[in-house]
Amino acid sequence: MRNFLSISDCPVELLKELLRTSARLKSLYGVGGNDLCLSGKILAMLFEKPSLRTRISFHVAMTDLGGSAIYIKPEDIGGIGSREPIKDLARVLSRYVNCIMARTFEHKTITELAEYATVPVINALTNRLHPCQAMADVLTIQEHCEDIKGVKIAFIGDGNNVARSLAFACAKLGMNMVVASPAGYELDAETIEKANQISAETVRQTNDPGVAVLDADIIYTDTWVSMGQEEEKQKRRADFAGFQVNAELVKSAPANVKIMHCLPAYRGFEITDEVTESPNSIMFDQAENRLHFQRALLKKLLG
Ligand code: CP
Ligand code: NVA
Repeated sequence: MRNFLSISDCPVELLKELLRTSARLKSLYGVGGNDLCLSGKILAMLFEKPSLRTRISFHVAMTDLGGSAIYIKPEDIGGIGSREPIKDLARVLSRYVNCIMARTFEHKTITELAEYATVPVINALTNRLHPCQAMADVLTIQEHCEDIKGVKIAFIGDGNNVARSLAFACAKLGMNMVVASPAGYELDAETIEKANQISAETVRQTNDPGVAVLDADIIYTDTWVSMGQEEEKQKRRADFAGFQVNAELVKSAPANVKIMHCLPAYRGFEITDEVTESPNSIMFDQAENRLHFQRALLKKLLG
């Protein structure tokens, strides 16, 4: 494996291996001596958008494995693709560090970084995809459901980067997903087709959240206003009314349904405080598992 840009590009066996390694590393976390397999290795972390989980969990993952990380804000380097072309940035960074992780607006920025870098490139979220999140989510589902095979996820809300990566994870790893979105905010047809080509009848779309959750093992939601969409906030909040994950919606699902959210959660909008804090919520396990999945990923790419 050279880069980690999209789950759709990764062989199933590799994804399963990463999940096994994540679980093993998690079980050993804090017990006995650290595995310092990345001693002397350096990760560059480029962020065009804010981050709590991704930034800190990658930094901790590198440190835990004996390596180090450098955080780079676009303004530090005169903007990504502004002061110098992305292809030059990729080649220069590759001469200094062992791996580049980037969170960008345009997906093309990360594919161009990967095309010209001579070290592995990791997608830490683009407008299109969030693969590290989806893999940490699968690890979390695996911990809470006996078998991930056949697990039914009802994704309520925006057919966005998080939904798209989750759809590819479902297709690769034998889960099913129904995405309930308001008209105009559905997961794009191309993604649904691609996921269903990987594995038939994996992903479907509806405009009815009540029906989507009826037989769900997991209810998953994400913000209605992703980073970069702040100007559309008012319109989006109006358009998504009726798509909130609240106690009433959860009541329509099986009693042991698990509630997931990649976080940050905007309580009172896509989800209520009550549901976020309920015993069914496994959101903080998801957040923790970012660290364990990324330790496995870094070990695989750089170890
Ligand atoms: N879920 C997630 O990626 O969080 P951050 O934006 O805080 O990194
Ligand atoms: N869809 C959200 C995910 C945040 C982790 C965003 O892109 O802002």
